Amino acid sequence: MSTNVKIIFETDSLITENETVKDFVKNSPAGHCSVLLEGTHYIVVKENKKTPLTLEKVRSTAGNIARDLSGRKVEAAEVSAEVLTNGFAELDNKDLLTAFAEGWDLGAYQFVAYKPSVTAFKTTLVVEGNAEEQDSVTLGKNRADATSFSRDLMNELSNVLNPETFPEVLKQQFEGTGVDVNVLDKDKLEELEMNGVLTVGRGSTYKPAFVELVYKGDESKPLVALVGKGVTFDTGGISLKSGKDLSDMRMDMGGAAAVAGAMTLLAKTKAQVNVVVLIPMVENMPDSTAVLPGEVIKYKNGLTVQVGNTDAEGRLILADALIRAGEWKAEYIVNIATLTGAVVAALGTELGGVFGDAELSADMKKIGDINGDFIWPMPLVEAYDSSLDSDYADMNNISSLSVAGSITAGLFLRRFVPKGSKWLHVDMAGVMDKSKASGYYAKSATGYGARLLADFTTHVSK
Ligand code: BES
Ligand code: ZN
Ligand code: ZN
Repeated sequence: MSTNVKIIFETDSLITENETVKDFVKNSPAGHCSVLLEGTHYIVVKENKKTPLTLEKVRSTAGNIARDLSGRKVEAAEVSAEVLTNGFAELDNKDLLTAFAEGWDLGAYQFVAYKPSVTAFKTTLVVEGNAEEQDSVTLGKNRADATSFSRDLMNELSNVLNPETFPEVLKQQFEGTGVDVNVLDKDKLEELEMNGVLTVGRGSTYKPAFVELVYKGDESKPLVALVGKGVTFDTGGISLKSGKDLSDMRMDMGGAAAVAGAMTLLAKTKAQVNVVVLIPMVENMPDSTAVLPGEVIKYKNGLTVQVGNTDAEGRLILADALIRAGEWKAEYIVNIATLTGAVVAALGTELGGVFGDAELSADMKKIGDINGDFIWPMPLVEAYDSSLDSDYADMNNISSLSVAGSITAGLFLRRFVPKGSKWLHVDMAGVMDKSKASGYYAKSATGYGARLLADFTTHVSK
């Protein structure tokens, strides 16, 4: 059955007055709104809570409604911009419309490629409003599209998305968008001495690659390099991971998905920015050819690294990308990676950790607070730096400490940051996926970082 519904907004008195409306009553996770389905009306009840309404609550509410209606195969839902913005007076009207449309599309997101019995269905959101209001809605849809692209990449299986196919997917994604896609193959990696990528990729049947996405929205703006960890599956290598189900390790390219999503959004919105995205791509596999614990990698900048643990592979490939960002003469460098289990222990699954430049970290936190990619500034504790010392190389890829694993990973990366660049490192291991659908999140990949890095890039390009 496919009916169209109209979304209206009411005050909380409606709950008690309409006790007969038993059809559907649900509290949003944010606890701010209840939604009731009555006939062809979908009523969002704005509760008189003391806590201020946030854009995140708007996104979550829209996501909950969209998922519910899509599940009921409702073709379209109508909402008037005026009614929507009246219902939520404390927020900027444009931001509110964008958030609602963004939350809507993300809430209806499904990854059903491997469920032949399920057809993805999304209730179309129809907003009645003027041209300016429609622009705000379109922006929300674009933000959702970019984030959904990141989700799709992360959810995809590792036999389908691997270092040989990933560059092709990106070529297709950016065709005709004004983004140049440079794919550096194994020969080029050798020429450029990307020895971290070459070494980590040695155990895989798939040849490693390095992709550069170049977008010159405004060449006069400072060059921002966005670096994403692209490990298409992390078995741990010879330091093999153990555990019941390692399926989630197909998402160890979450950083790559984030920067590709950010670039999608920046290009789509014709952002006046100057960006290069750098993605080292490998599959971390054990094999007779794989890197062995104890081997030493010599990097192009002269540093040597003992591979104390082949499962600390992310930092080994990001090191090459940081050196490369220096060759590009990037003024700002932000790398993002599903880097450490330790960040999950520290911050849990609701927010990422950001390390590096204190002022920029604070800026990034503010951006995440608004756009939903929540993040918390973390310290690079100098006293822990010597824990990366090696007996026979300049440094080890694992710390001798048994604690502070996300900090020592950040300290490792810092040694490769080119002089003169302002740098941030985002560890998104805790936020790469959700264990259940809620708000505007589906179960599984979150698409974290696409919005965060796009908005951050725009922020530093003002
Ligand atoms: N990809 C993992 C980190 C990870 C863990 C991502 C959980 C998502 C969820 C990374 O390559 C890794 O294995 N890190 C090790 C580092 C250790 C060997 C120093 C870790 O965190 O245990
Ligand atoms: Zn690993
Ligand atoms: Zn990894």
